[in-house]
Order: sequence, then structure tokens, then C-alpha cells
Amino acid sequence: MSGELSPIDRAKYVAAKRAVEFVEDGMRVGLGTGSTAAWMVRHLAETVDEEGMQITCVATSTRTADLARDLKLQVATLDEVKWLDLTIDGADEFDPQLNLIKGGGGALLQEKIVATASDRMIVITDTSKEVQKLGRFALPVEVIPFGWETTKTLIEETLINLSVAGRTSSLRMHQDRPFVTDEGNYIVDLDLQKIDNARQVSLVLNQIPGVVENGLFIDICDIVVIGKSDGTVELRDINNGSVKQEQVEVSGNGNVFSDL
Ligand code: A5P
Repeated sequence: MSGELSPIDRAKYVAAKRAVEFVEDGMRVGLGTGSTAAWMVRHLAETVDEEGMQITCVATSTRTADLARDLKLQVATLDEVKWLDLTIDGADEFDPQLNLIKGGGGALLQEKIVATASDRMIVITDTSKEVQKLGRFALPVEVIPFGWETTKTLIEETLINLSVAGRTSSLRMHQDRPFVTDEGNYIVDLDLQKIDNARQVSLVLNQIPGVVENGLFIDICDIVVIGKSDGTVELRDINNGSVKQEQVEVSGNGNVFSDL
């Protein structure tokens, strides 16, 4: 990347940079997956290096783990660390209660395990991800490959009894083959348009044999940091109801991560 950041990258950059300020020396930190999380990993590596911090990271995907190790962050497994102080991750959608749809990058299973094993989850996003009701973004559901077509049919039949505005589903592909997750599973994307009761949909989906996990994150996110292309961020904390606007400095022309 060269020259000025694009408006969307500037928004991701400032959200990621502000979120890294929540990380303190000695913390165990979960690292999300996706383009916004990649900005965060780079900001975090820079901060750890500049401030001589000692932190232990747990990644939510092999690609995030590879990036973190490349940047000299200390990466451990969740089983080694067991519990985390903080996880910072992106999202595909968030609603006013900070419930989320995640999994656009296919890492929802590890992301949900890691976020749930954290005292706090901070989501970094831009304004385009905000919705009044979840569902505009297709809901990813991770399914085991065995019998996936039957599982997909069962999911569609289950949706008939749920209050959603769309009911079509599709197997996620990578070129001409099914996309395979880090856990060796497939993803079925559900085009639901509008989900009236996300908690119910999440619980019902996870009862279907063959479904491993779905991308609805209910009551998991604590704080959302919304980056804007003008370099400001909005911080919303669902626990104390606070909403703050802040300006974040963009270093130089923003081209601090030349190989991103
Ligand atoms: C990865 O599986 C997802 O949950 C990502 O966190 C989500 O898709 C956001 O990605 P971007 O930051 O690239 O939009």
C-alpha cells in the first residue's frame, strides 16, 4: 500500500489503533481475524515493541497467528493460556445492543471460543457495519462436512418456524471447491435479511445435528470502537451505556504498514 489511506482503511486504522490502547502490560489478548483485525495486530505489535510490553496473544485463525508471529508477538494456544483479559476483533454487523454477526472471513468458531473466554471483547469496525436489526449480512453457519447437504436442508426447514425475512442458504465456496475452515469444516451462509430474535435463532441453529456453531455473537461484545474516515472514533460501552467521540492521530500519511 502506498500514499494516503483510502477512507475505509483510515476508518479501520483509527478503530484498530484506539482499541490497542485498552491493552496493558502483562495482559493475555485474543486477536481477531479479518482486515480490521489485521490493522489491530500491526498496531499492537508496534505498541508492544515501542513500550516494551510483555503480552501473550491467542489468535483466532492460522492467518492471524502467522501475521502476529511475523510481527514478533508472542502467540500461545488457548489451552496454554486458558483465559484472556481482552479480545479485539472485527465484525460483519453490530446492532444497538452490540450483538454481532461474524464469520465473513470464515473464522467464527475460533473467534467465538476466544471471545467467550475473555473478560472483555472489544469490536473494531467502521460505520457501514451498524444495523438496527441483524441479518443484512448473510449469517455464516459452520457445519461438519459429513452430510452437509442434509444439514443444510434441516437448517432451511428450521428457518420456516423462525421470524426472519429471508430463508435461502448457500454453501460457501473457494474457487470451485467448498471453503474449508481452520477446523476442517464447511460454511453455510444464510440470507436472512432481518432477524427478529437473534438469541432464538442462535440457540435453534446450534441444536441441529451437523451444525458446529453460528456467527451470531449475543451478549459477548462489551465495547465497540467505530472508526470514521475523518480520523475520529466513537466508543460505545454496552455495560455502562457510555458513548464517547475521540480523535485518533494517523501517523504521517497513514502509510505506517508498508506491506499491508
Ligand atoms: C472473520 O471470520 C470475521 O468474523 C471478521 O471479523 C469479520 O468478517 C470482519 O472482517 P473485516 O474486518 O475484514 O470486515
